[in-house]
Amino acid sequence: MKTTKDYLLAVESSCDETAASVVKGERRIISNVVSSQIDIHSCFGGVVPELASRHHIVNIVPVIREALNRANSLDKDFQGFSNLKGIAVSSGPGLVGSLMIGLQTVKGMCLATGLPLVGINHLEAHLEAIYAVQIESTEDLLEDLPPIIQSPYVALLVSGGHTLLINVKERGRYNVVGGTRDDAAGEAYDKVAKMLGLGYPGGVVIDKLAREGNPRAINFPRALPGRKHRDFSFSGLKTAVRRHLQQNGVPKSGIELNDLCSSFQEAVVDVLIQKAAFAMEDEKATTLVLAGGVAANSRLRERAAQLARERGWRVAFPPLSLCTDNAAMVAVAGARRFNEGRFSDLSLDAVCRSLPGNDM
Ligand code: KG4
Ligand code: ZN
Repeated sequence: MKTTKDYLLAVESSCDETAASVVKGERRIISNVVSSQIDIHSCFGGVVPELASRHHIVNIVPVIREALNRANSLDKDFQGFSNLKGIAVSSGPGLVGSLMIGLQTVKGMCLATGLPLVGINHLEAHLEAIYAVQIESTEDLLEDLPPIIQSPYVALLVSGGHTLLINVKERGRYNVVGGTRDDAAGEAYDKVAKMLGLGYPGGVVIDKLAREGNPRAINFPRALPGRKHRDFSFSGLKTAVRRHLQQNGVPKSGIELNDLCSSFQEAVVDVLIQKAAFAMEDEKATTLVLAGGVAANSRLRERAAQLARERGWRVAFPPLSLCTDNAAMVAVAGARRFNEGRFSDLSLDAVCRSLPGNDM
């Protein structure tokens, strides 16, 4: 049988999601499996690194098997390892213990099969999520691909660990033009959710409750306002919420809780949108891209779309399932790197801190 070696397997394990995906060519995602550990960490109000590593160990092989099986059910040309041209893996930033499980598993597979290893920066993968095209059926495989988002553009990368404004001059060339001085936007969501007893992760729950609330009910602070600063700061907002709860008590449900969530969310989104607008103007960009877990936020998406409409800019966000951690974004970034011939050595290490564009 003729085998087409145009498939790449990708693995993601940088935090509390164990994920694997197969991409055909550069952008067609033919499987995307994510095993979340939310139920394990929820009662702790955040990810417990030791527990995350242990669960990655248990989950990683079944998740990779499932991704290979689903790819085969959707695309009969895909027979497994014999069709792979390489294997990509997130090697940082993230929790080192978690990253090491994905990294060592992929290195083992590369060693056994002789396939090239492609190390991917997790933040670069988040940025590449907008290029992924999710294939849902065998018929979809034959469809033409939608046009690619054209660079240059400004990306607002907002996740649990990062809040960055990046000028993407071209795919793979990044210039960081703003960032947080303390907490990341997602971290602020998670910490406020913990104070409210809403469990972990907090973003989705606060997003949902905020939709029923009044964003102007409580006037929470907007840090570092104005054009002078491109940086963000969310720790003061978190403290303001804590003080409000100490003075007024923790609302359990109903209008009070909705108003609090909505007012907190509006304070976060106001700042994100204002700084994104400054960055767009300063970088003379006409396309704004949102990426990362917080890019799933309904209010942020709404306000970004509104801003773009008002200024005559274009706006792009990944589908909801590709905002939070997944391996499809690693697969797309990996396929590009593979085409550029940028492979990693088997001595590739896990790194807890790094920016997009740093070589892996
Ligand atoms: O990108 P991601 O999955 O992991 C990191 O790389 O950090 O982002 C996770 C973060 C969490 O802080 C979570 O609360 C937040 O994204 N998040 C949201 C929403 N969905 C996830 N924040 C606000 N609104 C949402 N709908
Ligand atoms: Zn992430």
